[in-house]
Amino acid sequence: MMLERLNAIKTEALEKLALVKDEAALRTWENTYLGRKSEFNSLLKGVKELPDEERKQVGAQSNALKQALYAALEAARGALADSGRDWEVERIDVTLPGQGHMTGHLHPITQIEHEIEDIFTSMGFGIADGPEVESEWFNFDALNFPPDHPARDMQDAFWLEKQWGKKKYLPRTHTSSVQVRYMQTHTPPFQIIIPGRIFRNEATDASHEHTFHQFECLVVGDKVSVANFKHLAETFFTAFFDKKIEVRLRPSFFPFTEPSFEFDVNCLLCNGVGCPVCKGTGWLEIGGAGMVHQNVFESAGYKRNEYQGFAWGFGLTRLAMMKYKITDIRLLMSGDLRFTQQF
Ligand code: FA5
Repeated sequence: MMLERLNAIKTEALEKLALVKDEAALRTWENTYLGRKSEFNSLLKGVKELPDEERKQVGAQSNALKQALYAALEAARGALADSGRDWEVERIDVTLPGQGHMTGHLHPITQIEHEIEDIFTSMGFGIADGPEVESEWFNFDALNFPPDHPARDMQDAFWLEKQWGKKKYLPRTHTSSVQVRYMQTHTPPFQIIIPGRIFRNEATDASHEHTFHQFECLVVGDKVSVANFKHLAETFFTAFFDKKIEVRLRPSFFPFTEPSFEFDVNCLLCNGVGCPVCKGTGWLEIGGAGMVHQNVFESAGYKRNEYQGFAWGFGLTRLAMMKYKITDIRLLMSGDLRFTQQF
């Protein structure tokens, strides 16, 4: 009896479903045939009162019926949703080329830093680093900059507003700030490079940034000479640019080296002809260098005249510009993806 009635409901429900034309009618249909107060539902509740044998049979069939009605409901719902769509507009041309994913990569400065580190580690150098916010002592005093000496203005510093007692701090103006830090905890002989980001309060142009990268080289031992410095620099540049590079040393002054040099290489951007980056001279200043001043060794706690060493601080950003023929230094830190994606 009950099965017949259930089947009759199913037939009627499916007939009515075929006539449904919109969402509202579909909801009414669902309430009528599958809702809590539907006849179908109250019949199902009665199943548990049936005798054992009949209950099993009716239970299984009514379940199948319920599933069939739900399946029909879902199909009708899908068909209704589809009927409101314009397949011409939504047509997907699977033969069109796909859109590539943008994948990130290392910044050109980081790539250059890694290349430089590879060249030096292959020659037995260690790599050291230090904090970007540094005490005035490590950045200036320990490097033999006398207090209130005009040499401090060679590198215009940004200063931190807060002072700790008499101690002043600044974003370091050169990687030389790591020299004494390293020497305080190491005994010569050693040979290291110190790549890092530095900050200067200066006006920017095609070859000057306020935030840029340098890499320091520090070689200390018993008999280290200027000749060692020149040979090492030439070996490095030949490996880095993969061709013979012309270099020139000019006498210069740094409080922490004696004698001191300015180190230039011929401008690869214009091949020495003259361009905005080398300011028409054909030479690009890459860095400063010199023999470590004995006062600096003393700051580090070494005995005067016990060791000899040389140091240089080269503009890593300038090297990146020459390697990749970048004509404006400001592009490197601009964060412009159209630029960085080229590397
Ligand atoms: C120094 O920073 C010294 N600490 C270098 C040094 C180290 C000398 C060890 C002796 C011994 P200088 O201020 O000249 O020196 O800077 C070194 C190099 O950094 C420059 O030759 C140049 O290549 C680069 N540089 C300097 N200022 C800028 C700037 N505003 N933008 C980009 N690169 C710069």
